[in-house]
Formats: sequence, structure tokens, C-alpha cells
Amino acid sequence: MRVLGIETSCDETGVALYDTQRGLLGNAVHTQVKMHEAYGGVVPELASRDHIRRLIPLLERVLDEAKCTRRDIDAIAYTAGPGLAGALLVGASFAEALAMALGVPVLPVHHLEGHLLSPLLADDAPDYPFIALLVSGGHTQLMRVARVGDYRLLGESLDDAAGEAFDKTAKLLGLGYPGGPALAALALSGTPGRFKLPRPMLNSGDLSFSFSGLKTAVLTAARARDLTDADKADLAAEFQEAVTEVLAAKAVAACRQQRLSTLVVAGGVGANRRLRQRLDQAMAQSGGRVFYPALELCTDNGAMIAFAGSQRLLQGELPASRHGAFVVRPRWPLDQRR
Ligand code: KG4
Ligand code: ZN
Repeated sequence: MRVLGIETSCDETGVALYDTQRGLLGNAVHTQVKMHEAYGGVVPELASRDHIRRLIPLLERVLDEAKCTRRDIDAIAYTAGPGLAGALLVGASFAEALAMALGVPVLPVHHLEGHLLSPLLADDAPDYPFIALLVSGGHTQLMRVARVGDYRLLGESLDDAAGEAFDKTAKLLGLGYPGGPALAALALSGTPGRFKLPRPMLNSGDLSFSFSGLKTAVLTAARARDLTDADKADLAAEFQEAVTEVLAAKAVAACRQQRLSTLVVAGGVGANRRLRQRLDQAMAQSGGRVFYPALELCTDNGAMIAFAGSQRLLQGELPASRHGAFVVRPRWPLDQRR
């Protein structure tokens, strides 16, 4: 079965074709970073309009790469939420219209389910059950994943998501958008510990997170003096230490609590090297193992949506939407998927 995946929830247009026998046949992403850069963040209306422009060329590219035609598509999966309402509607209408024209089933997919299952696309894939650490621009969550569709939320951020904290702190330090990769790059030349930042909720005894105070602490440090480039690098390094220390400690605590030794990391912040280093080390110490998606599958893409859709179809799930009637869900908790 060949499933086409369509992702348009935010500022990346993703299209991919996944074959349940042969794996990923084609995968193409267009990122709108350049377009939104001038505004310092995502402009929703511009994002929607750009998704419209990109979808057909990306579909052509994916079919070329896969050496397939539209007739080879057996089903279509698209991101129905959470995300920007207008951006989601572009992908949803495109997917629904194409499915109607081809006469194939169409399946709305939860964006976070896509991220969550993305490490299973690797050759060396984890077995169920596992703990998933979801760290994206909009979410920071620890989940127990028993199998496809069985997700239990163990803890999440009470305020800013980890990626959001990276982005906002990067902005404070005068780095561009998106801030995460820029801040991580700057941190490489800095020394952690010279500035002291808190480790929020490290000893809270639960699996909740809080990152908004860290950003305020960086702001306070920045206001106390004129920051030199070296100061900024040191602050970036300390900020990265603080976030990754808390994330790693709570991920390990979740594994211990649930008596599981497999940890899966997904979402954009999963690309952070320091986070990977810490998680690998902490999990190895407790006899466990960490699985990551390929770097290009950490941030938003169509492959993870095609894959999540294919797993649902293999499980015998009938597409929930009928041709011609669909909704998107800009806010949509993963454990309330139905
Ligand atoms: O999963 P994703 O592509 O989009 C959402 O669903 O939110 O995640 C994007 C987030 C952004 O906040 C970005 O700054 C962050 O992931 N990010 C990183 C790194 N690469 C991307 N944060 C820290 N270090 C990185 N290397
Ligand atoms: Zn995402």
C-alpha cells in the first residue's frame, strides 16, 4: 500500500510517499523560513498562501523521485491539527480534493502522532512499548506509547514549549528566526556556568515542565549589562544546559516510573546535539536506549504523516472523513484523538 502524506500545519510544506512494503519512496519539504525571517516569526496568512503555491510542485517532485504516478497512490493522509487554522485548511482541502479525484481513501492525521511515530521510519526502529519525549515548537510532552493509537500523557509543559523557549531566548539575544538552531550554534562557542540560570521544576517530583521563567532569567541578565558577543555565547550555552538537563532528567524519570527502557525522541528540538548527548548518556547509565528519527525527519515533514496514516490503515482503521466534508482542529490534544 502506498500512502501519500501531506503536512502544512505551520511553516513547512511537506509531501511524501510511503510504501508499507518498500519504505519511503519520495520525500520533499519546502521551508518558509526565508519568507518569515523579515517578520521575526511565522505570519499565518503568508504561510497559508505559500502552502498553496508549493503543494503541486512538491507532489510532482515526490512522484518523480518515487518513479510513480498519481494512479499509484492508494491512500492519502494529511495533518488535520494541531496547527495554524488557515495553513491546515490548505493541506486538508488539497488532500481531500486529490483523494476524491483519485477515488482513494483519505485520512486526517494528528501532527504529534506523526512526530511520535517518526523514529519508527528508521531501519533500526524501536519496539513498543516506549516512552516518547516530544519536543517541538508548540509542545513539550512525555507520553507512554503502548502501540499505534494508544498514547498516555505522563507530563507536559505548563507554559512555553522547549522549542518556543529556544526561539524566544534566541530573539532576546538578537539571533534570527527560527532561533533554536541559531542558539545551539552560538552555544558551541560559549561557556556554561558563567551566568547561572535556574533548572525549572527539576526537583518537582512529577513529569511537568516549565520554561517561561528561563526566558525571563535571560532577559534579566541581558538588562543588567550591555552584553558582549562572548556574554551572549555564554548565556546561550547556559540556557542550553538548563533546558537539556531538565528534559533529560524528566525523560529518564518517566522511563523509570513506567519501568520501560526504550526512549523515543521526536520534534524539532530533538535535533539538538547537546540534548542527544545528555539523553544517550543518561539512558545508557540506566541500561536503556534512545531512538531518534533521522535528522531531516525531526522537523516537520510529510513522511511522518504518510507513515502515521499507513499505520492506522494497516490497523484496519476506516478513514474518518467522508469525501467532501472535513474539519481541521487547530487545537487538538493527542490523547483525545477521536
Ligand atoms: O517539530 P518542529 O519542526 O515544529 C513544530 O511542530 O513546532 O519544531 C520546531 C522547533 C522550533 O522551535 C525550533 O527552534 C526548534 O524546533 N529546533 C531546535 C533545533 N532545531 C530545531 N531547538 C534547539 N536546537 C536545535 N538544533
Ligand atoms: Zn511539528
